[in-house]
Amino acid sequence: SSSSPSSEDPDPDLAPLHEAAHLLRTTSVPVAFPTETVYGLGADATRSDAVRGIYSAKGRPSDNPLIVHISDLSMLRSLLSPSPPSNPQQEPTPHHHQEANNNPDPIPPIYHPLITRFWPGPLTILLPLPPHSRLAPEVTASQPTFGARMPASALARTLIALAGAPLAAPSANASTRPSPTAASHVRDDLDGRIELVLDGGACACAVGVESTVVDGLCDPPAVLRPGGVGMEELRGCAGWEGVVAAYRDGDGKGGGVVPRAPGMKYKHYSPRARVVLFEAGYEVTAAGVGMAEVEPLGERKAVGFIRTGGWGAAGGLPWRVEAEWEEAGFVVKEGVLLGEDGTVRGGLFDVDLGGNVKGVAHGLFAALRELDRLRVDVIFVEGVNDETDIAAAVMNRLRKAASEVRT
Ligand code: TXA
Ligand code: MG
Repeated sequence: SSSSPSSEDPDPDLAPLHEAAHLLRTTSVPVAFPTETVYGLGADATRSDAVRGIYSAKGRPSDNPLIVHISDLSMLRSLLSPSPPSNPQQEPTPHHHQEANNNPDPIPPIYHPLITRFWPGPLTILLPLPPHSRLAPEVTASQPTFGARMPASALARTLIALAGAPLAAPSANASTRPSPTAASHVRDDLDGRIELVLDGGACACAVGVESTVVDGLCDPPAVLRPGGVGMEELRGCAGWEGVVAAYRDGDGKGGGVVPRAPGMKYKHYSPRARVVLFEAGYEVTAAGVGMAEVEPLGERKAVGFIRTGGWGAAGGLPWRVEAEWEEAGFVVKEGVLLGEDGTVRGGLFDVDLGGNVKGVAHGLFAALRELDRLRVDVIFVEGVNDETDIAAAVMNRLRKAASEVRT
């Protein structure tokens, strides 16, 4: 009967995973899959046609290189050893065990402590592209290096292993949109452009912001993009005590720093609504601040707030806006703004990400997308102190999403 599993009828829960691996092996249609950071849009990194499928599905500029996702270190080592150009006249390559005995580990020693400590996990390392690399040239977009990451997500690693190839994968959003942390976000952006989204469920993207991109091949080593692994954590590793930031947030912070990851120069993480960021410590308690912010919205006032701990109590911006609207003759009832004649004049939508920065990182992209879905005109976001850990990544994404920053 159909209910009794047989050897030809594997676990039906794994069917989408096998289907995804099959698509990755045999077609050039990219597959979206969850990782512990954000959803990725993957393709076989060794096939040009497959990698080009990623760029066209996303509408991504072709000069922005992709991260190569690996399931284990042997897969990475195979990408670091020069592969001879295929030439039928040539002698076959020497045996692998011989090579392994004679050659040192092709992974540069500077990365060994990082790999031990942070892999699998939200860290991407830049590695030298060997001569005659097996990677499709589209992956590296003419950089002399490639970025590699071993994701912590077991689902992601299983997919890579089943596909039998390293997977090039950018975040699975349409270019410039906030990164996806749920399968529905991927579908909202890419429906009709891709065939399959593996759904990792509610907890798949536990980190919520992308991986930290580091370059250990330069001196001093550098962070090219802040992410799930913090600067302080990196500094705790041998050889990384002097790591520097080689990115700019777009608010004048990191002045003089030339962003080195090509992706860091683009507009990014943008919902359709205007985003106004209030840096941590910004004084919103002065009388009139709330009204000054929403007055320019005119007749229809649909406002979203993203709170990160400080605006909760009376005195925070949402509270001030509500109080000042009431003073101006509106009625605010459960987030709905009514005019004096009782007609709906707008709304006030409030997303509370809580005061814990890990929770803020986890919920940030979903909050931006949710407020967009509610069609707010403006999103006011409360910043976090960017001194530590993942807070740097949160503020980097917020500064890029924001069209205005109040400092
Ligand atoms: O967490 C993540 O890293 C996610 C998940 C899917 O793994 N991926 C991701 O990929 O965020 P993407 O393409 O959205 O961002 C990759 C960033 C870009 O800023 C890109 O410019 C930079 O890494 N990058 C990749 N390879 C590079 C290279 N060889 N040199 C410099 N920057 C590189
Ligand atoms: Mg991205």
